[in-house]
Amino acid sequence: MDQPKLIEEPAARLARRIAHASRIVAFTGAGVSTESGIPDFRSPGGVWDRFAPIEFQAFLADPEARRETWRRGLHTYPVVAAAEPNAAHLALVELERDGKLSAVITQNIDGLHQRAGHSPEQVIELHGNAHGVRCLGCGAWSSRDAVHRRVLEGDDEPVCRACGGLLKPTSVSFGEPMPWDEVRRAERAACASDLLLVIGSSLVVYPAAAIPRGAVQTGVPMAILNATETPLDGLAGVVVRGRAAELLPAIVQQAKRRV
Ligand code: APR
Repeated sequence: MDQPKLIEEPAARLARRIAHASRIVAFTGAGVSTESGIPDFRSPGGVWDRFAPIEFQAFLADPEARRETWRRGLHTYPVVAAAEPNAAHLALVELERDGKLSAVITQNIDGLHQRAGHSPEQVIELHGNAHGVRCLGCGAWSSRDAVHRRVLEGDDEPVCRACGGLLKPTSVSFGEPMPWDEVRRAERAACASDLLLVIGSSLVVYPAAAIPRGAVQTGVPMAILNATETPLDGLAGVVVRGRAAELLPAIVQQAKRRV
């Protein structure tokens, strides 16, 4: 009697895909950082369960929206600043060091991919990051730590000390123009990859989610590692369900054994 064909479980299939790829592009969302202690946005208890998003236009027009932004930052920024990269971040660095990863496109603003050890130019931040503050008047940049201290000392609506302009964290708000150079770099990298590896994203926010969708339409194979279902699962050649910090290191190790 024929042996039943072993159906490779998805993680083993992903390991095989990684073993044979050489221009992998990772596309990450908040789910890659939850195991570093940073809540994601749309899981139960996530950021949008606790806060309503503050739109960019409201930030510009309404002093109370600005004060609420900095008030929230008193709670959220220390969590991001104290977070350490987890095993999923480190597994992606290992792929870069093995010469198999050509870029990390991230929606995250926590800077953990860079802290994990990626060459900074390999990380494309579509939504900016939480570690800087920009004056909307003169464009002067300052560290988030410095402005966070001002807010802690009671300055509830910090303005630029050089020109008096409005200060805003360098993370991109809803309704704020995207960093188009980064978006174009990300589109080019994703379309040039031989495996687009989506990790920890609900893939519901555009224009970011248009990047994996567009790459697949040009023929790039996609794999999704995510704790829950996403709208793009049907476009993926492999879907691995589970926790990134537990699964990705094992998958990368298995891929190395196959080479
Ligand atoms: N391992 C794998 N997947 C995880 C894990 C984990 N440990 N933890 C959470 N997830 C999954 C969740 O199931 C969810 O599908 O990660 C996904 C996170 O989705 P979102 O919270 O929507 O985060 P993200 O996709 O990054 O959101 C995109 O929306 O609000 C904006 O600017 C914000 O960049 C963000 C964008």
